[in-house]
Amino acid sequence: MAIVKADIKTVRLFEAMWQDYLELNPDAQNIYALFGGAGQVINDHIALRTFNLPEVNIEKLARPLLAGGYVEAASYEFEQKKLKAKHFKHPDPLMPKVFISELLVEQFSKELQDAVADLVAQVKPQVVNADNFLHCGKPWQISFSTYRKLLAESEYAAWVGAFGFRPNHFTVSINHLKQFDCIDEVNQLLLDNGFRLNSVNGLVKGSGLIGLQQSSTLANMVDVTFTDFTVKIPSCFYEFALRHKVNGELFEGFVADSADKIFESTDVKFA
Ligand code: NI
Repeated sequence: MAIVKADIKTVRLFEAMWQDYLELNPDAQNIYALFGGAGQVINDHIALRTFNLPEVNIEKLARPLLAGGYVEAASYEFEQKKLKAKHFKHPDPLMPKVFISELLVEQFSKELQDAVADLVAQVKPQVVNADNFLHCGKPWQISFSTYRKLLAESEYAAWVGAFGFRPNHFTVSINHLKQFDCIDEVNQLLLDNGFRLNSVNGLVKGSGLIGLQQSSTLANMVDVTFTDFTVKIPSCFYEFALRHKVNGELFEGFVADSADKIFESTDVKFA
């Protein structure tokens, strides 16, 4: 298969998403440098989150990616978290996969459904059609009490409510890091340098046997300005993925069970 290079507009879109992400998670820049920076660090994937309402669903987020040569590769379901997801890939192997999930809003209470509908009603079509939609942040006003209401039912809903449309995480491809061939060494380097890792069900999610091992930092805490209060809450995290061969071929998908635990990197713990 001929390798199709990503066009400049798509490359710039990912650069803009990276800059937006670094504003919320500046540690990622230090970790990126720790692994050798530009030329050494290749992204395995990035992740975007949304609600499944037609105005802002996966299809809407995928549009600029499909226009840039991405194609849909697989879909996933997370029953417990009430999410659906799809991943998209680009023929250029240096472009990250994009994992987009959406909350199945209709499976929640009337209160949550109404709160989400109120947010989405504030999104103008030109916001969704703009070149910066995938890194525009929250195109709505939200109060801290609404955030708490969403949080009571879904950490995920609360995250989207507080942060809107932007990468939730970038993921370093360990396969492309020349100096590492195992995820434990990557985790140890991060711990030795003072970064905190998500330890829900152990530092490493997945296994070589299923084809994918992942770990992640804990989400950075940032001040978010709600309409009534400014509150420090978890924002974005950095992830690390090592892919393995399954039946002789490198596994290129995602593992629902592991992603389930990774979602918890942004869980809120109010003291
Ligand atoms: Ni991920």
